[in-house]
Formats: sequence, C-alpha cells, structure tokens
Amino acid sequence: MKLSIIGTSTITTQVLEAIKLYSEIELDFICSRSTLKGEKFIQQYGFKKHVSTVEELAQTDTEAIYIASPNSCHYYQAKILIEQGKHILLEKAFTSNSRQAKELIELAKTKNVVLMEAIVTPFLPNFEKLKEILPPKKEIIHVNLAFAKVSSKLNDFIKGDPTNIFSSEMSGGSLMDIGVYGIWFAVALWGKPKKISYHSLVKLSSGIDGKGLLVLSYHSFDVKITHSKISNDGLDAHIYTKKRQIIGSNFSILSKILDIDTHKHIIKDESVDQQQTQYYYELGEFLHCVTTGNQSFKNSLENTLLVMNILDEARKQAKIIFPDDLS
Ligand SMILES: NC(=O)c1ccc[n+]([C@@H]2O[C@H](COP(=O)([O-])OP(=O)(O)OC[C@H]3O[C@@H](n4cnc5c(N)ncnc54)[C@H](OP(=O)(O)O)[C@@H]3O)[C@@H](O)[C@H]2O)c1
Repeated sequence: MKLSIIGTSTITTQVLEAIKLYSEIELDFICSRSTLKGEKFIQQYGFKKHVSTVEELAQTDTEAIYIASPNSCHYYQAKILIEQGKHILLEKAFTSNSRQAKELIELAKTKNVVLMEAIVTPFLPNFEKLKEILPPKKEIIHVNLAFAKVSSKLNDFIKGDPTNIFSSEMSGGSLMDIGVYGIWFAVALWGKPKKISYHSLVKLSSGIDGKGLLVLSYHSFDVKITHSKISNDGLDAHIYTKKRQIIGSNFSILSKILDIDTHKHIIKDESVDQQQTQYYYELGEFLHCVTTGNQSFKNSLENTLLVMNILDEARKQAKIIFPDDLS
C-alpha cells in the first residue's frame, strides 16, 4: 500500500515507528506546509517526495493517506482526497461535528474508498480480552473512566502563544482531544447511551474546555468519564460488576481482575501481550481494509458517527461552539 501522510508532529513520528513494522506499507508523499520539514521527513523516514498542499496530494497517484492535522482540518482535507478516490485513515476527533462526519462517510461509500478513524482503543488485544471477560450489561453496576493528562502545549497557551489543541478555531479542547477516548471505550462496548450529561468543569479563555465530566447513562448503569488536558487525574478504567472489579490502566486497557468473593479479594492479571506501539493495531486494520476493499468492522463508521453525535450533544450542553458549527 502506497501511504502518504499529512502532518509532521509527534503523533506522525509515533505512527511512523509502527509503520516500520509493516513491509507492505510503502511511504509515498509527506504533505507539510514547510519545505524544510518535508525534506527532513524524506531524509529521516524515506518518503518519496514532499508536497505542500492537500490539493497537490490529491492529484498524485498515492493510494492512501493518514491525516494527522489539527481537528478542524480533517473534514476539508479528507473531502478533497476522497473525491479523488483515496483511502483515508483520519485522526481522532474524526471531524469538528457530526454533520461533517456524516458527509464524509456518505462520500466515502459513494466513492468506494476505505475511511477509518485512527482511534487505538477498539483494536488493542487487551480491549479484545476485556470484551471476552466482560459480563452482560445487566451485571454491570458502574464504570469510571479517567483520561486526564497535562498537555505539553499548556505552558504555550498560558503564555498566549497559539496552540491548536486549546483553540476553538481548530476544534480543540479536552473533550475532543482526550475525552473522546472514553466515549469510544463506552460506545465500542455498549453502543448508544440512553442519556448524555456533560459538565465542562474548566472552561478556558479560548472558549473550549480544559477539563470536564461526561456521564453516559445506559439502562442499568452509568459510565462516568473524567477528562482533562490541564491536570493529571489518571489514565485508567474501573468497571464494577456484581462479582468483580475490572481495572484497566493507561490507554492499553489491561485487565486486572479483582474477584469480590464475599470477604476475599483475589487479584488476577489477565492482560495479554501487546506490541509496544499501540498504533500497530490500527494500522494493521487499515492495511487489511484497503487490501480487501472493505470498511472496518471492528472500528465501524456507525460507531464513529455515534461518537460524533455524543460529542455534539456534550458540547451543546456546555455551550462549546466551534466556527465549523456555524458554517
Ligand atoms: N491517536 C493519538 O494517539 C493522537 C495523539 C495526538 C494527537 N492526535 C490527533 O492528531 C491530530 C494532530 O494533533 P497534533 O497535536 O499533532 O496537532 P498539531 O501539532 O497542532 O498539528 C499537526 C500537524 O498539522 C499541521 N498543522 C498545524 N497547524 C496547522 C494549520 N493551522 N493548518 C494546517 N495544518 C496545520 C502541522 O504540519 P506541517 O507544519 O508539517 O504542515 C503539524 O505538524 C489531531 O487530530 C489530534 O487529535 C492523535
């Protein structure tokens, strides 16, 4: 598969480490606004050529593109590329809002190209393991998810320097950046929630949320998602069932099990081995989809749209409006 990439930040370099593990992936174009960065990526990673704009990239014969640009760029970049028949792996959050997501999904189906959100959760072997050991919904009592880590860009924002992640124009904020992992976690396991309740706990001067609390209510239990880009409130998952407490940590969702057997607590570690780079699995799925010409089943576009609808509703409740919502 001839793969090109838009964006040259840390996430691209991390995904490039995973790409190295696939001999079937041939690096094609690096799309960067900076010629200097483009040249550096050619030398460092072996891209074939540099292009400066998405319009130029769309005119090449490249097959597939991984888009790792700020959130508000996703829709228009993906649209131009899908129109030219390119397969797309699109970073989370998928688009600024569900209206854009719906349009891209319909276009991808019309153009018969693969479109997949680059979200690691549904592909991790430990998430698969969690699905295996999880009891039915009726036995779940409560779920607490924490996705909270101070952003490396926070000091720049405080100093008044432009930062995409804390910008409303770029469709940034904690919910879009990190809260989305918690939403994906719940949607991939339990589907559409019955009720959504969102509190933006800290709203920043740029109009977006620095941290927040989202509650997704299912019929018999709630999923409480705390997320933050301005404080380290943990990266873990606790699922309380009638018989067990299942504990996951970091984004890898390890499955430590606490058996609640009257007075005895027995801790078992049921986690399975994973590749060091979590991006390995989403890339493998994307490669498989492009090769077979099918949309992903594990990470379905229906779930992507569901997640985008939840993000829209949560932002509506917290009065977080992006310029993209108004256009
Ligand atoms: N899956 C994950 O684990 C993960 C982790 C981090 C981020 N992400 C997602 O990846 C995406 C990029 O996040 P990031 O923090 O890396 O963003 P970023 O550093 O602000 O921007 C990423 C790249 O996009 C280009 N870019 C920056 N500002 C732009 C603008 N105004 N217009 C057009 N292009 C611009 C830059 O490339 P050039 O200068 O080379 O043009 C930059 O390297 C986001 O959607 C984020 O949610 C995912």
